[in-house]
Amino acid sequence: MAPLKTHHLLTLAYLLSAGCGSAHVAVTTSALGKAVGLSQQAASAHLAELERDGMIRRTASGRGRRIRVTDRGYAEMARMSSLLRAAVEGESRRVLRGTVVSGVGEGAYYMSLPGYVEQFRALLGMVPYPGTLNVRLDPDSTGMVLALGASEGTLVRGFADGRRTYGWVRCYGALLQAAPGGKTPGDHAAVRCHLIRLERTHHDTSIAELVAPQNLRESASVADGSKVAITLD
Ligand code: CDP
Repeated sequence: MAPLKTHHLLTLAYLLSAGCGSAHVAVTTSALGKAVGLSQQAASAHLAELERDGMIRRTASGRGRRIRVTDRGYAEMARMSSLLRAAVEGESRRVLRGTVVSGVGEGAYYMSLPGYVEQFRALLGMVPYPGTLNVRLDPDSTGMVLALGASEGTLVRGFADGRRTYGWVRCYGALLQAAPGGKTPGDHAAVRCHLIRLERTHHDTSIAELVAPQNLRESASVADGSKVAITLD
């Protein structure tokens, strides 16, 4: 599918502000055109292009149309928003912040499957410690993870083991560090790890999962409730 075209940014921003991010909402091309400075015809053409590119979905409703921004459209806007904020505020988009939390103990099972372990060994040169360290991200950082492009990172492919299939895992090199609290930053060791994004997960997008060859709780001296910074390569 085509990436988000910059001339569609304002139209998508208008649709999100009109509530089309969470429901099918009736939007007229005249109101849209007025809001974003386009003729009604141009606004209508933009909607057709956005639908063709998979950014919105339209359903018939009486004589009009209702519009909803798709997950893909939302993710593209989150990515754009993060890029714009970094540019405007001069802030590095590469540092994620959050708090260490426990999951339900499923990570150990998945990270021990030979279908994943062999690929981690071949692609990243490491055998993962069985599990994932979960970090609940601060709201700003959640957008940064959504902004990580599919072309970045290393792809560990999904596989089947005869009984079921397992989804792909995309790995992004990073450093994990306990966020400086009362101590000086130098007191906290930065530990190499990979932030992973999963094709299938029970977690919402606010949870980042980290893998590493060693136990990250021990090597980064963190526990549930610890504030951490994850610096992406
Ligand atoms: O789902 P949950 O986070 O409870 O557990 P898990 O993914 O099965 O991982 C087992 C334990 O090891 C958890 O406490 C993780 O936070 C921790 N872990 C770690 O410290 N370093 C890693 N590289 C992987 C997991």
